[in-house]
Amino acid sequence: MKILITGAGGQIGTDLLPILVGRGDDVAVFDLAPRPEGCPAEVEWVRGDITYAEEINTLTARFRPHRIMHLAAILSAAGEGIPHRAYRINMDGTRNVLEAARLFGVEQVFFTSTIAAFGPGLTSPVGDDVPLRPTTMYGITKVAGELLGEYYEANFGIDFRGVRFPGLINAGIPGGGTSDYALFMYVDGMRSGGYESFCRPDAVIPFMYMPDAIRAMLELMDAPKADLGRSIYNIAAISPTADEIADAVRARIPGVDLTFAPDPARQAILDSWPDVLDDSNARNDWGWNHEFDLEAMSDDLMPKVKALIDAQGENAPAHA
Ligand code: SER
Repeated sequence: MKILITGAGGQIGTDLLPILVGRGDDVAVFDLAPRPEGCPAEVEWVRGDITYAEEINTLTARFRPHRIMHLAAILSAAGEGIPHRAYRINMDGTRNVLEAARLFGVEQVFFTSTIAAFGPGLTSPVGDDVPLRPTTMYGITKVAGELLGEYYEANFGIDFRGVRFPGLINAGIPGGGTSDYALFMYVDGMRSGGYESFCRPDAVIPFMYMPDAIRAMLELMDAPKADLGRSIYNIAAISPTADEIADAVRARIPGVDLTFAPDPARQAILDSWPDVLDDSNARNDWGWNHEFDLEAMSDDLMPKVKALIDAQGENAPAHA
């Protein structure tokens, strides 16, 4: 299967690429960032700006993918600092991807939506079909992206599908997300002996460990269309409080100093998101089931974070 991935230099792509290559897919990447060290040699890496239609069109016309996985986006916290740029990348970028798919006969576009598509005041667990009234530019563009993809499916026959991801945790350095405090407890807890989270200890949002997230993408991407009752699915795994995450880190790094100094703007974003998602449609339609709870994730993650820090040393990016 030929798969074109936008934004694969980010948190998801870093873990996704080796898995796609490992299962025999022919992969090309479109990303502003340069090819990272460790990217599998089989992957074609093309640098470009998703806001310029001709750039993504040129690659799509040449590579002729069966599928596009559209990951390129500016996340919630970063997007609030550069809302107009976030709009261009997230909104124009999604339209450019869908247009490239339409123009060059791509069969499927896979879209990565988010818990940020939701706004405040919803009762947990939050299902798929609730009013979507996000308060961040990231969330607004993701809701519009969901709707635009469904328009392209209805009018141009593109197989459009995707998931609303919880905050994702892996052994990577996240960039610009409001959910990043969780991962930095592990990374900075190990690298610096402590971390001051920008949220309250009782902050709760849905999280998911990256291996579950990648398996969700692959399972939904490959599911028979006839099984799917909708295009975009909530998927859920765990909803720990920030303090419960801190306890999981404390149990694995003796003496680590994890504290909380809530930043009003970022805490307000967290407060606007659901505590718990209802993902029963995903479970019923394509058999979604998460494997990792907080303890299993923490056990698996710790050695990977250590390997990341050992590999990156002083060059590891600082947290946002
Ligand atoms: N991880 C994302 C963020 O924090 C949520 O989709 O912006």
